[in-house]
Amino acid sequence: MTAYRLRAFESADRELERLRSQVRAGLSVEAPVYEAHGLLEAGDVVDVGAGSGEPARWMQRAGLRVTCVDLDPHILAHAPADARRLVARADALPFPNATFGGAFTRFLLQHVPDPQAVVSEMARVVRPGGLVLAMDTDVRSFVSHPEIPTGEEARRAWVEHARANGADPHVGVRLRSLFVGSGCTDVRTSVLTVTSDTVGRETFADVALSPHARVVFRGDPERLDRAERELGAWIAEEGAFGSVTLFVTSGRAP
Ligand SMILES: C[S@@+](CC[C@H](N)C(=O)[O-])C[C@H]1O[C@@H](n2cnc3c(N)ncnc32)[C@H](O)[C@@H]1O
Repeated sequence: MTAYRLRAFESADRELERLRSQVRAGLSVEAPVYEAHGLLEAGDVVDVGAGSGEPARWMQRAGLRVTCVDLDPHILAHAPADARRLVARADALPFPNATFGGAFTRFLLQHVPDPQAVVSEMARVVRPGGLVLAMDTDVRSFVSHPEIPTGEEARRAWVEHARANGADPHVGVRLRSLFVGSGCTDVRTSVLTVTSDTVGRETFADVALSPHARVVFRGDPERLDRAERELGAWIAEEGAFGSVTLFVTSGRAP
């Protein structure tokens, strides 16, 4: 049902810390774009695939009322205790039509077999004219110099792993199509680039370059070790650079 599971990681604590660090690193770039798409005017927002709730915390600080939905109770337990938290599937949200002023999802759609069903569910639970917003990436946009051999290997294996679970690792570039398919109007996409220059090489390696390896090489300590060594060398190299593209699409619920 999903390619993502907290328990698929060698260390759940490390993955939780990575999610936090990824949000801290990403939000400096993402927040102004979410604002430009009108997220902060949405009032009450459902965060679908909320995970440990870092984006929800940011939305709460910005004055939104947030409901966090996630399939995995273990990760949802880390979401803010003062938000409404519900264990549910993203493609079967347990809310009547037109419940919220907005729906938000971040790094979920690449993990689900039917992202169209999820975006359509988000549009269903938002009041007509309310905001539906999704952010995701495309694994083809991960680039680095120098190349990290285990990183390339891990991303190739990740594409197979994701597809074997029915997921689409290229979903970012497909967001507009999913929003149009959901009946949303006023659909638009912004493209952001997160680079090792903006967030620092160490953070970039941790949040963007190592997660695929940690999932697909799980149970292969030798390869995990090699991946860590290559990343360490990349971080130490002053001339190293990496970047990844994030796609933010929003539309108005029909
Ligand atoms: C990569 S994490 C992103 C978490 C959070 N949105 C963030 O940006 O930090 C993906 C989350 O989606 C959840 N998830 C995966 N498939 C799901 C589904 N079908 N329905 C609801 N949640 C799902 C996972 O449990 C996980 O918490």
